[in-house]
Parts: sequence; C-alpha cells; structure tokens
Amino acid sequence: MDNPFVIKAYESKDLFCDREEELQLMLRNCLNQTNMTLISRRRLGKTGLIFRLFDEIKASYPNIQTVYVDIFASDNIDGFIKLFAEAALSAIPEKSTFGKRLVNYIKSFRPQVTYDTLTGQPQLQIAYQTVQEKEYTLRGLFEFLDGQNSPIVIAIDEFQQIREYPEQNMEALLRTYIQQCKNLTFIFCGSKKHIMTDIFANERKPFYSSTTFVSLGKISEERYAAFIRQLFGRGKRSITDEALQFVLDWTQRVTYYTQQLCHAIYANGKKTIDLAEVKSTCNQLLKQSETVYLQYRQMLTDKQWNYLIAVAKEGRVRQITAADFLKRYQIGGASASRKLAESLSEKGLLNVEVSLEGIDYSVGDVFFSHWLERL
Ligand SMILES: Nc1ncnc2c1ncn2[C@@H]1O[C@H](COP(=O)(O)OP(=O)(O)OP(=O)(O)O)[C@@H](O)[C@H]1O
Ligand SMILES: [Mg+2]
Repeated sequence: MDNPFVIKAYESKDLFCDREEELQLMLRNCLNQTNMTLISRRRLGKTGLIFRLFDEIKASYPNIQTVYVDIFASDNIDGFIKLFAEAALSAIPEKSTFGKRLVNYIKSFRPQVTYDTLTGQPQLQIAYQTVQEKEYTLRGLFEFLDGQNSPIVIAIDEFQQIREYPEQNMEALLRTYIQQCKNLTFIFCGSKKHIMTDIFANERKPFYSSTTFVSLGKISEERYAAFIRQLFGRGKRSITDEALQFVLDWTQRVTYYTQQLCHAIYANGKKTIDLAEVKSTCNQLLKQSETVYLQYRQMLTDKQWNYLIAVAKEGRVRQITAADFLKRYQIGGASASRKLAESLSEKGLLNVEVSLEGIDYSVGDVFFSHWLERL
C-alpha cells in the first residue's frame, strides 16, 4: 500500500485530517459568494484546505467551477495575468461550451501558447504594447469569467506576492474589478501575516473590509492523534501511545512537519512503532536536512545565527527584550534584539505569533529548530 501520509499539497478526503469547521465555513461563504481571506502561519495547511474545499464543491455542487492560481512565481501584472489565464484554462474543461469560449477569448490577446512537455499544462506568452493594454486585459479576464453566468470560486494563493509588483495600483485595480463581479467568489490566501493583514485590514488600503477572514490554527491533538493511529492501522502497523504523543509534541502539530515525520516513520516500514523508532526517525530527518541548514549558516551573520540558536533553545520567546534572555545569549541591548528578530522574520526564518497574551517568536522551521537547539 502507498504511504498514506501525504506530503504534497492534497490527495484525497480520506487522507486529509479534520478541518471540518473551516471547511463548512468556507463552503457556506462560497455558496453565498462571500469573498474570503485565509491566513495562517506557514505550513499549517492552507493550500491543502483549498484543494479539500474544491474537492467538496466538485462532489456536491458540480455547477460551481473552481480555479486555483498560485501567484508566487509572478513579479508584475504581466506575470499575474499569465498565471491567472493559465489557471483558468486548465481548470475549465476545454471541450465544454465555457471552455471553448475561454480559449477563444484568450486567443484574442494573441498569446503564444505552448504546452509544458512534462505536465502538458498550457503556457501563455502575451506581448503588451502599453500599461493600459495590460489593465484592459486583466479587467477583461475578470469580466469574461463573470459573464458566463455560472458561479466560479477563484482561489489566489500566495496573494501577498502582489506587494512585490512594481505596479503600485495593483490592489486598487483588483479591488475595483472584483467588486463588480456577480458570479465570482474569491479566496485570498497567504502566509506572510503582516502583509496579508495590511492588505485586508488596513483602512487606508483598497481591500479594507472587503473580505471575511478565515484563520487556520493547529489541528486538535485528539483529532490528529486519532487520524495518525488510523492511517498506521490501515497499513497494518501500530504505534504506541507514548510514541504518538512524541510525534505530536516534537512536530508541534504544525501539519507539514507532522505529516513529514509520519511519512518517514511509515516509509521505514516497522510494524510496531515505539518511542525509540520515532526518535531514530527524527534524527534521520535532521541529518537529511543538514546541508540545507548549513547553507542557511552561510546566508546569515554570526549575530543572526546566534540569535536563531537562542530562540531555538528557548523554543518560544515572549519577551525578546527581557534582560535575562539578552544576557543568557549575549545578544546585546534591547534594540539589537528587536533588529535581529525583525531581520530574521523578514527572511522567513522566525515565526511571529501575535495573540492577546503577547507576541511569541519561534524558529519557523520546526525541524531546523530542533537541529539548532542541539548546537
Ligand atoms: N488536514 C490535513 N491533513 C493531512 N495533511 C495535511 C492537512 N493539511 C495539510 N496537509 C499536508 O501538510 C503539508 C503542508 O500543507 P500546505 O502546503 O497546505 O500548507 P500551507 O499552509 O499552504 O503552507 P505554506 O504557508 O508553505 O504555503 C502538505 O504536505 C499537505 O498535504
Ligand atoms: Mg500554501
């Protein structure tokens, strides 16, 4: 039997743990055409949840089309249009009336169409003369999709990327087009929380108050434990309570890491999984990533590196300017600590969690954190 612990985006409902409340909420929003912003820390399962939702829509509401576009690879409006058009093309069945119309519509931009040799996915190249032409194309695409009189849910993943575009008016443009759509529902998704919050919750920005927020936390301990036990059981394996608890604690129930560890344990093939087996798999995973971690070392100053080690050893730091933290790790003054924390979270290496109790800092990559804490 194949390894049931999925480590790519999404496989199927039965290999997907929980998220029932979030799924129902998002489904309801889709049926009511309420635009959403889906935010969480990295690697908790946003993209997976979108695919899970789309699966559910396909099964229960086949009249609703779904389009998923990841704009991470785009660095300007041209890139956005290209990825968006490609995503629509691959989501809407080519032979349907809608699909045929879409192909014709996109042909009117006179793009060069090629097909990826490996995946067969369509790839577009569109040449523009002027800025107006780009904006016209972008608006046209939204109007075209909206004009098909069939509901479409469009998920735009890594949405914070639009802040990297040189075009300053992208948010205003999108906001205007989206506001006019009658049949389209949007899900904006991203993990750079401070940017996403600034886009959607800053009253001076175009998207302010235009979406409802769906926030994703960790899967509960009970549900994740039951899920893991069940999947090992399907492969005729068993895991001890103690070992299972260690898996959940060591990965902090950050979905990506929990899945990775379970995947590796499963792949190792033991029928009975005890604590020793789990710990040896943990070591194996850290060893495998060592080259990557040493690479990080090269990218950082000594001060940044030592700061990461300090945070890793603490696990989580609430008061980055507290005297005993600064002293214990010889960080220097409070402002030095703030600067280091800022530069490391900018690089995506530190995870910043804001709650009513305060601001927590931890090393974003849970495995890396375990590796660092041993130094
Ligand atoms: N509910 C779930 N049950 C089982 N596996 C899951 C679940 N959610 C996510 N995963 C798995 O965890 C990994 C990380 O999930 P995903 O890529 O969806 O996270 P993300 O929040 O989009 O991350 P990023 O912020 O890096 O984009 C994937 O391999 C995915 O298959
Ligand atoms: Mg994602």
